[in-house]
Amino acid sequence: MYQTLLSSIENNVLTLTINRPEKLNALNKNVFTDLDNALNNIETNSEIKSVIITGAGPKAFVAGADISEFSDYTKDQAVAMAQRGQDIFFRIERCNKPIIAAVNGFALGGGCELSMACHFRIASENAKFGQPEVNLGLIPGYGGTQRLVQLIGKGRALELLMSGNMIDANTALQYGLVNYVVKQEELLTTARSVLETINSKAPLAVAACIQTANAVYDESKNGFELEIKEFGNCFATDDMKEGVSAFLGKRKASFKGR
Ligand code: COA
Repeated sequence: MYQTLLSSIENNVLTLTINRPEKLNALNKNVFTDLDNALNNIETNSEIKSVIITGAGPKAFVAGADISEFSDYTKDQAVAMAQRGQDIFFRIERCNKPIIAAVNGFALGGGCELSMACHFRIASENAKFGQPEVNLGLIPGYGGTQRLVQLIGKGRALELLMSGNMIDANTALQYGLVNYVVKQEELLTTARSVLETINSKAPLAVAACIQTANAVYDESKNGFELEIKEFGNCFATDDMKEGVSAFLGKRKASFKGR
């Protein structure tokens, strides 16, 4: 189905594994094509309620964009490449279903950017994050300059962007870049368990959480107004009626996503 991704579904959680371990899962054109196609499936396949993105092998989540594709790029090709990467990462960020990154090693350059486009991140103890593009005479092109500032603040972000330094998993936890740091062998089970909790909630409300939180960083939207609108929309759903009636009836709610 895909050239560069492994895909499996368990309990409505899709795990997408970027599978180029010999190149530390670097993002080449094929990975972007596969991610784009995977997003089509995620958006339309009702069996998928949430998604984990991770990397193959014990060493890397994704060690960046594939540098071997860079050498003969013109300025226009570079712009097109950054635009394509940003478009796909926006699809992840704006997806109505939760997509989280399980960061199992190096998350550098485009890998750090991919993890930051996800709704949140869980890291294994060996994870390392960084935006080393300055080492190549470059800056991030897939949203890294924006999302790193959003997630860890301008001072810390600029230090990482300008120095190219990596931070370890515990520093990432302290910075708020990741929600949990766990042993590598527990990474996927932790990610699945967090998503299974979310999957048990009302899907339309979960989607509205994502869209309203995204509005904080979208100048074209007033997040407070959107929150009022989405709050009202919830009252028109069967799931809200079910949630309230289950609470009042002291039983567990069963949500249908309607
Ligand atoms: N693009 C293309 N290939 C990459 C890559 C990338 N971003 N990152 C790693 N690889 C390849 C290496 O070229 C090597 O391939 P080879 O065996 O055919 O020579 C293989 O993955 C293993 O990497 P290697 O460098 O030997 O592993 P290491 O443990 O010594 O170092 C890193 C790991 C992550 C520190 C190092 O690979 C690195 O600095 N990668 C580039 C990170 C980067 O600059 N990312 C931003 C790109 S814009």
